[in-house]
Amino acid sequence: MPPLSNLAARDVETLVHPYIDLARFRETGPLIIERGEGIYVYDSDGKPYIEGMAGLWCTALGYGNEELIEAAATQMRKLSFAHLFTGRSHDPAIELGEKLKEIAPVPISKVFFCNSGSEANDTQIKLVWYLNNARGRPLKKKIVSRVKAYHGVTVAAASLTGLPGNHSDFDLPLPGFLHAGCPHHYRFGYAGESEEEFASRLADELDALIVKEGPDTVAAFIAEPVMGAGGVIVPPQTYFPKIMSVCARHDVFVISDEVICGFGRLGTLFGCEKLGFKPQAISVAKAMSSAYLPIAAVMIPDLMYEALLVESRKIGVFGHGFTYGGHPVSAAVALKAIEIYVRDQIIEKAAKRAPLFQARLRALDQHPLVGEARGVGLIGGVELVADKASKRSFAAAHGVGARAVRFAEQQGLIVRAVGSDVLTLSPPLVINAAQIEELFGRLTRALDSTLDWVTRERLTQA
Ligand SMILES: Cc1ncc(COP(=O)(O)O)c(C=O)c1O
Repeated sequence: MPPLSNLAARDVETLVHPYIDLARFRETGPLIIERGEGIYVYDSDGKPYIEGMAGLWCTALGYGNEELIEAAATQMRKLSFAHLFTGRSHDPAIELGEKLKEIAPVPISKVFFCNSGSEANDTQIKLVWYLNNARGRPLKKKIVSRVKAYHGVTVAAASLTGLPGNHSDFDLPLPGFLHAGCPHHYRFGYAGESEEEFASRLADELDALIVKEGPDTVAAFIAEPVMGAGGVIVPPQTYFPKIMSVCARHDVFVISDEVICGFGRLGTLFGCEKLGFKPQAISVAKAMSSAYLPIAAVMIPDLMYEALLVESRKIGVFGHGFTYGGHPVSAAVALKAIEIYVRDQIIEKAAKRAPLFQARLRALDQHPLVGEARGVGLIGGVELVADKASKRSFAAAHGVGARAVRFAEQQGLIVRAVGSDVLTLSPPLVINAAQIEELFGRLTRALDSTLDWVTRERLTQA
């Protein structure tokens, strides 16, 4: 391992980083990114990388967008901060709220602003609890999420998340959070079971779970249309309609976590439109502002708002809110980002490039290391396996995914490894056809290097 640069050494001695093997990180150090332009970022040595993950699934309009920068600067000059507490308000929040209502895929009554996806999902849970208290159903409080779901890391959001790494030794999930089956046919389908049969089975299992717990105790079901951090898992086409009818049967409120899928990632404005379901409430964040500034929102249906009013009449103040929720500068940037998505037909154009992206992605299925290459729109997951026929994963201790990420970096490509060696791709939506070709060229070379290394180290052996 080469010695760390001065800046890298200072980082290691100063910061606790999210999502890294903290012990191993002391030797590898960070990749320090200094600037960005379009779909490229540049490290502290000036080396360019294709940002194949749009940061963390979020910089949809790429880097250095002057209109977004100008929107922030203008708003900052005019009013750098105002809040929404205790009846105060400001123009950008009102306008953004109206815009979100206008573009929502289902009827939305009100918008509640937060700063992050985790806060949005925590808020969703609190609102569901409030809802059922208002409706005189104090026992109907359990929330169903799914194995491999990712909904964030705050205490309630992490309880929704269905990944062991977010629970182990954090004493999570909290009681009252249940995890239904993961709709990943490649990993969880039975031998000979069609995708359609698999979807029906998952819906039956959800039904059985709710009946076992008692429908009077189950309040809500939350899902990402396509699971992101769980490994880019695209459910069977009939999955959500089947799940929706189970939820309707038991009067279970449905929340779509659109933190990744919202604003065009799947080729539609909202992910639920692509997957064919109509949730009651929606969480958005990330690409809403193209990640130029943090902002998130909970999109609240009328039934929920009415419940808030009932509770408010009973107890007075609605005791929830974040200092920076709906920050005027973030809101101004999000408004501009949405204007650009619509005006420049960013999502339609991304949808047109999706077949090329998906064709290049699926071609990786032929690679000896790849068990499954999957995705939709401009999101993709490449699952690396030790044995294609049996789908056997590599031992976690080998760190094959992390090594592949480093080979990709050598090629000038940023990807991420999640779970059991799934490489995830989610480039800025503004990526063009030639850049898609370049991205997959670099990824293929990185996979070849990973294969050489795996073979040399004899890591494919059981
Ligand atoms: C689907 C989904 N929900 C929620 C979150 C949490 O968002 P944040 O990291 O902004 O709290 C994420 C983050 O990646 C996400 O992918």
